[in-house]
Amino acid sequence: EEIEKGGYDHFMLKEIFEQPKAISDCLRGRINSEDGTITLGGIEDVMDKLVNAKRVVIAACGTSWHSGLVGEYLFEYLAKVPVEVEYASEFRYKEPLIGEGDVMIAISQSGETADTLAALREAKARGALVLGVVNVVGSTIARETDAGVYIHAGPEIGVASTKAFTAQVTVLTMMAIKLGLEKGTITKTRATELITELSRIPAKIEEVLEDTTEIQRISNLFSYAPNFLYLGRSYSFPVALEGALKLKEISYIHAEGYPAAEMKHGPIALIDEMMPVVVIAATHHTNDKMISNIEEVRARKGRIIAISTSENTEVADLAEFTTIIPETMDVFSPLVSVIPLQLLSYYIAVNRGCNVDQPRNLAKSVTVE
Ligand code: G6P
Repeated sequence: EEIEKGGYDHFMLKEIFEQPKAISDCLRGRINSEDGTITLGGIEDVMDKLVNAKRVVIAACGTSWHSGLVGEYLFEYLAKVPVEVEYASEFRYKEPLIGEGDVMIAISQSGETADTLAALREAKARGALVLGVVNVVGSTIARETDAGVYIHAGPEIGVASTKAFTAQVTVLTMMAIKLGLEKGTITKTRATELITELSRIPAKIEEVLEDTTEIQRISNLFSYAPNFLYLGRSYSFPVALEGALKLKEISYIHAEGYPAAEMKHGPIALIDEMMPVVVIAATHHTNDKMISNIEEVRARKGRIIAISTSENTEVADLAEFTTIIPETMDVFSPLVSVIPLQLLSYYIAVNRGCNVDQPRNLAKSVTVE
């Protein structure tokens, strides 16, 4: 096992550091920034159905559900198709309105999650086209979907998912750009710009991983905290949910992720000088609004930990701590902004003496409903 960990203390840390490679592997042979095209072998034959889809329903659980939420923003923005993201476990129990002409995308790292499998069977039985975004080759979900795109992240051993999340988001990004191109909702020039920036994401993640001293310092200061709040808007909202989930899973600290503006409808009551509030200020088009939210937290003496870019000096001035991430387009920001959050949860869990790779009560693959 020590050999498999490749010199890292835990599989989770190894997998966090593998993300530049995992994403490069995921992109390899699929994107072409010269001519602005994307080739996804597994779904080429069903592209016409996806182009004509009335709507897309994404079904998943846990971290995969969070990548689905990022997918919703991407598909609606780039391909102008309505998307609903369902908890796979709830899908069957609401008399799902799904049928011919609809497309379900089932997202699963393991390809074995019972609830996701049940949801896709239900959608298939009702006549929808079902696509998979799966890591484990030949898994049940990969076999039972009509077509799909493997994420090629390599084996993920740590129970808390890290590289599978970013690779899933990478696949959903490629699917959304490809669909947008084929539907004509984005131009070839725009697609080329997007693909060029997408190809730079592994290097930007590498940059975050090169120096983790600030995030370790923040982790040491807040390892005592019984509660955490994570706030984000737009593409950073699913990242807030994912950051909170990571912390809960491995450090057993209660954490909530919220769309930043919803804070005023409840969580703001929790904020005092004891409450660490992680703000993901990584999307340009919501920055002014995010700054107002940060001011609201500051006025109540919350301890602000910001994830932001070096250009965003307004955020850094307001926050007590700032972890700097490289600049990228809003659509790709989750791929970069989630990295410090994975590290934060990792270092806090280690400080608290938790079993990082096998947290209590959790399983890597949940094969019961
Ligand atoms: C479990 C794992 C999570 C994972 C979820 C969904 O809860 O601990 O890390 O996100 O299942 O798993 P899947 O394999 O379907 O992505």
